[in-house]
Formats: sequence, structure tokens, C-alpha cells
Amino acid sequence: MRPRVFVPAELPRDCLQRLEAVADLSLRTEQLPPSEDEMLRRLPGHDACIPLLTYPMTRQVLETASASPDHPLKLVAQVAVGIDNIDLDATRQLGIPVAHTPGVLTEATADLTMALMLATTRRIVEADRFLRDGSWSHWSLHLLSGLQLQGARLGILGLGRIGTAVARRARAFGMKILFTTEGEVPEDVVRELEAERRTLPQLLAESDVLTVHAPLTDSTHHILDRDALFAMKEGAYLVNTARGGLVDETVLAEALEDGPLAGVGLDVYADEPSVPASLVGRDDIVLLPHIGSSTVHTRHRMASMAVDAVVAWANNEPVPHLFRD
Ligand code: GLV
Repeated sequence: MRPRVFVPAELPRDCLQRLEAVADLSLRTEQLPPSEDEMLRRLPGHDACIPLLTYPMTRQVLETASASPDHPLKLVAQVAVGIDNIDLDATRQLGIPVAHTPGVLTEATADLTMALMLATTRRIVEADRFLRDGSWSHWSLHLLSGLQLQGARLGILGLGRIGTAVARRARAFGMKILFTTEGEVPEDVVRELEAERRTLPQLLAESDVLTVHAPLTDSTHHILDRDALFAMKEGAYLVNTARGGLVDETVLAEALEDGPLAGVGLDVYADEPSVPASLVGRDDIVLLPHIGSSTVHTRHRMASMAVDAVVAWANNEPVPHLFRD
């Protein structure tokens, strides 16, 4: 019997053709993410699912789909590296493997992090608005001046694949690298980056720019809470291209107004696509709509990796790119 695969988001044509060769597909054409109710209605009866990072793969969805009599759910192949939308306790208990897309989006996300860092520290978006609204009347010494990256200290919270790729770029800008991370970092990487390990309180106190590259888990949720944000160096900048839930975004405006922060660049939010109103009106925050990995090449590779996993599974071959914790 051919497996049935639920494809709830638009995938590139060549990816669909590869899937069609091995499985019967149910395509969902709506652009907005499905609600949990919709997943509960539509996923049961499929052996595999290819969700995006905002699709609710909750315990109830997973349990319901795996209890389906003819085609219980047997594989989730997510088109993203982050998988915090998937209840991993439930997949573990139900024995459903989860594939994702590590590695392929490292460089694109590191590029976007540098772009956001430059946009925030050099006030690029604010400057563009200033010119377009006709406010530019003359050149002056201090017009829209910001932070020079050369010689500044970059604090990296999470020196994994993406954090390391950001550090390499930042070194080319003349930044000094400090980091806090779970676990070991290979000695040769530390040497290459001339990076120095710090505790989190030290990292907060010493970094001119802090960039976040940790996965969102119970232990990292709000790792940058009010106390942490207010413990940052005076005049520091914060950049987050990882997950919104790592930072308590409800206190960011206060940390800019009454605390040490000089500017913030965000690509991710706790409850996407909603962005707190307290952030939207501010010139000292650059806001992007979660486009870290959004190059044509990378997004195609991500879709293709998820499809690789489903195709291998359908052919009874070892499934590549499995998430292992
Ligand atoms: C993007 O945010 C991803 O996790 O792939």
C-alpha cells in the first residue's frame, strides 16, 4: 500500500514530483498556518506530514494522528531546523521520528544576523525613513551616529553552527568574540575565532552587541528576561534571529527606555506573526518578519531535505536528517 503524506504547505514543484513518485499526497493550498483544530481534522489518515515551523504539532494532534486506524502517523519531516512547534515528548512516547533541516540554513541565517546587526547599530532603517520623510536638511557631524563594529565585543549566546558562522563574519568586521554556550566547543574553533568563554552574567555585562543563537527549550525560554536585559552593558545592542521565546519581548521597550539598551534587532517573535505594539512604533528597533533563512537557494534546500526524509522512509531506507536530542 502506498503511504499517504499530508503536505500542509506549498512546496517547490520538483519536491512534489519526488514525493508523488513514492506516495499519495494530500495538498493543502491555504497560505495561512493551520489551526490546531484544522490539523486535528486533516492530519489523521496520513503516514507522514511535512509541516512548517509555525504549524501546531501538539500532543493532541500527534496522538490523534497516530491513533488513526488505517494510516497512523509514522514520520514528521519539518521544513526548518528549529522544531519547538513539535511536542517532542509526545513524538518520543509515540515512537514517531522527527526529521528537520540542520546545517543548510546556517550561512543564510548568519548573513541575515550580520545584516540585522549592521542595520541596528548603524541605524539603517531609521536613516532611510529620515531621508524619505524629507527630514534631511544638511550634513552634520553627529547625524544618526551609531556603534562602530571594529573593536566592539560581540557576545554570542549559543556557539553552535549558526553562532559560529556569525562569529566568523564578525571577526572579519574586527569584532572580539565572547560566548556562552551549553556543552563543549571544539578547541580548534575557539582558537580560530580567538573567542573567550564567559558565564551568562559576564557576557551580559561585557558585550557591546549580544546575538542569540540557542534553540528554544524549557530551559532557554526567556533566558533574556527583565533581569538579564537590565544587566546588559550600558549602550549595548541586542540581536535575535533564533526564536522569539528566548527573550521577554514585553520588557524590551522598557529596557530601551529606562535600561541599558541602545538598540534591538529582531527577526523572531514569541507569537508570530504578532509583534508587540510597544515595539512597532520605535525607531531604535529594527523588525523583520522571520526571514533568517530566506534565500531562494536555502529555502529550496530546506524543502528538499524534508522531502529527502520522506522519500527515504517511503523506500524503507534509513531516514536522513533525524533530530536527535
Ligand atoms: C528557521 O527559523 C528554522 O528554524 O529553520
